[in-house]
Amino acid sequence: MRIQPSILSADFANIQRDVERIQRADGVHVDVMDNHFVPNLTFGRQMVEAVQRVSPIPLDVHLMIEDADRWAPGYAELGVFSVTFHAEATRDPVGLARRIREIGSRASIALKPGTAVEPYLELLPEFDQVLVMTVEPGFGGQSFMPDMMPKLRTLRAAAEQHGIELWLQVDGGIALDTIGVAAEAGADTFVAGSAVYGAADVESAIAELRAAAAVHAH
Ligand code: DX5
Ligand code: ZN
Repeated sequence: MRIQPSILSADFANIQRDVERIQRADGVHVDVMDNHFVPNLTFGRQMVEAVQRVSPIPLDVHLMIEDADRWAPGYAELGVFSVTFHAEATRDPVGLARRIREIGSRASIALKPGTAVEPYLELLPEFDQVLVMTVEPGFGGQSFMPDMMPKLRTLRAAAEQHGIELWLQVDGGIALDTIGVAAEAGADTFVAGSAVYGAADVESAIAELRAAAAVHAH
C-alpha cells in the first residue's frame, strides 16, 4: 500500500519545505496541467526538475496535458520514478509507454472517469501502472467517485490473468473515509492532496491513510 501526497495542495511558495514534510510517504505526486487538457494550469518540466532536485522521495509525475506523445518523454528524461500520461491525450499509448520505459521511468496510463477500461485490458503488460481517476482531473478537493470502483476490479482481475505486477493507482478525493473502499476494490497506490496537506499534522495524516488502506489490503 503506497501513499503519494499531491503537491497540488502544497504551498507553492514553499515547495521544498512541503516535500520534506512528506518524506515518510512512498512518493510525491506532481500534477502537471496545461490549461488545455484540463481547465487549470500548474507548471512544466522546469519546475518538475527543481522538485526532483530537492525531493527526498521518488517523483510520480501525472501529466494532464494534450499531445502526451510529444511531451511525456521529456519528463522521463529528467530521471523521475514514474510518468503517467492520459489515455485521452495520446494517439499511441503502447509506443509512448515503450519510449518512457526505454528512457528509464515507469510507464503509467491514466483514465478519466468517462473513459472505459476495456480497450486497454489487452495492453496491460505494456504498463507499470494504471491510474483510475476518481474525480474529473483539474482540481484538488473534489468528491471521490465510488462508481469508478468496478474499473479497479476489472483491472485487478485482468492483471492477474496476465500474471503481471501492475500498480493500480487512484487519484481524487482520497481521504480516510474513502481509501478503504478503493483498496478493497483493488487499488494499491493512493494519491492524496487535500487529505494530507490540509491536515494539521501531515506526517500523522500519511500514517493514518496507510493504516486505513492496509485494513483492506489484498
Ligand atoms: C486532480 C489531481 C490530483 C489532486 C487530488 O486533477 O490529479 O492529484 O491533487 O487532490 P485531492 O486529493 O484533494 O482530491
Ligand atoms: Zn494527480
